[in-house]
Order: sequence, then structure tokens, then C-alpha cells
Amino acid sequence: MSDWQPPAPLPSPSRRRVKGALSGSLLFEQPAHRAEADAVLAFLEGPDPVAVEVGVDHGTVLIDHARRTPTWRWLGLEIRKRKVAKAQPHAPPNARLWAADARSVFASVFADHSVDRVDILFPTPVTNPRHMLLTDAFVADLARVVRPGGVVTVATDVAPLFTWTCDRFAGWREAEPPERGPVRSRRERVCVRDGLAVQWGHWRPPVASSEAGGTPTA
Ligand SMILES: C[S@@+](CC[C@H](N)C(=O)[O-])C[C@H]1O[C@@H](n2cnc3c(N)ncnc32)[C@H](O)[C@@H]1O
Repeated sequence: MSDWQPPAPLPSPSRRRVKGALSGSLLFEQPAHRAEADAVLAFLEGPDPVAVEVGVDHGTVLIDHARRTPTWRWLGLEIRKRKVAKAQPHAPPNARLWAADARSVFASVFADHSVDRVDILFPTPVTNPRHMLLTDAFVADLARVVRPGGVVTVATDVAPLFTWTCDRFAGWREAEPPERGPVRSRRERVCVRDGLAVQWGHWRPPVASSEAGGTPTA
């Protein structure tokens, strides 16, 4: 995958009409899906800091994080419904998995400055522009949703994808890596096994330093 190239961006992307695997952001205007979104928002409500992991796969990293930091709320987003259905029964009370497209959720579900931490571990190096996660529109939604003191983390073993990602976060500030536990994601375990170099980026939203608050430790 070292020869990965970013797919050409879609013409005139609309932030409100994100095309995704689960029918885009207008999905949440349909009553059944709105109810699902409201249930997730109710789960996240309250004083606890909120972490979101995008593309949780089996959910093992998310569940480990949630067990070790019970004072945080952990939400895992994953487009593959079967993975979510298998993982959810193992989640502690402060963790929830949701079969939803992260692009749609960040575009139209989360309130401004409502999330403290976002982990994007090994995003798929797609070639179809419709499936591209780390677009300018998605990063703009992250900037709106993540609190000024919050942190977005991206890990990848695909060097050109890391370069692409760093370009998307060019206006952000570099951050310290947030805490993580001993459990590694499936892709990270493959990288360790095969000796593949992994690159990590940690960024805080682009706001004036006087506005930035600290992030709770997790
Ligand atoms: C390459 S896999 C990495 C899985 C896991 N994070 C790991 O490190 O092993 C990418 C994951 O992201 C999920 N995914 C891709 N696009 C997504 C999106 N827009 N929203 C939520 N999940 C997405 C895929 O279904 C897949 O599970």
C-alpha cells in the first residue's frame, strides 16, 4: 500500500449530504435513525468526558479503554453492523458501539465542542472517493465537534496516507499522545508481526491558545 494515492475528491461536496455506506447524513432526519441518534446522544450526555473511536472493527481497543477509564464515555463507530452486534455485549456500561458512518455522525449528530478525544486507528486506504474518510469536510467537522483542548489521533502504516492526513490537519496544533492501554487493534498487531512502520499523528483543534482548555487524562 506504499503506492496508495488519494482518490480524486468528489465534485461540489455538500457537508449536509455526506455520501456514506449508511445513506449519508440525511439518514438522521428519518424517524427511526433519529431515535437511534438520540439514544446515543442520551448515552453521551452528562459531565463525563467523551471519546470516540472511528472504525472499531471488533471493538477490542475501545472496550479495553472503557474498562480502564470508567469516568469516560466511549463511543465506537463502525460501518459493519455485524462487528457492532458481536462486540456490543462485551462493552462495559460506559461504552457503546454504533453501526454508523462516522462522516454522517460528525456532520449531523454531534454538537459543537462535545467530544474530548477521537481515535482513528488505521483508516482504510480507499481508492473510491465516495468511501474516503479523511476528507477536508470530515476534518472540518472534527474541528467543530472536538473541544478546544481535545485530541484527534490517526495511526496508519500507509506512508502516503499519513502524508495526506498531515496535510488535512495542517492548521491544527500538534498534541501529546493520549493514554492507551496494552490492547492493540487487529491492524496494529499485523504491523508488529510483519515489522511494518506505523506513523501516529496527534492534533488539537485549530483555536487561539487562550481558548484552549486541558483534556482530562485517559
Ligand atoms: C482498515 S480497518 C481498521 C480497523 C481497526 N481500527 C484496526 O486498527 O485494526 C478500517 C475500519 O474502519 C471501518 N470504517 C471505514 N469507513 C468508516 C466510516 N466512514 N465510519 C465508520 N467506520 C468506518 C471499516 O469497516 C473497518 O472496520
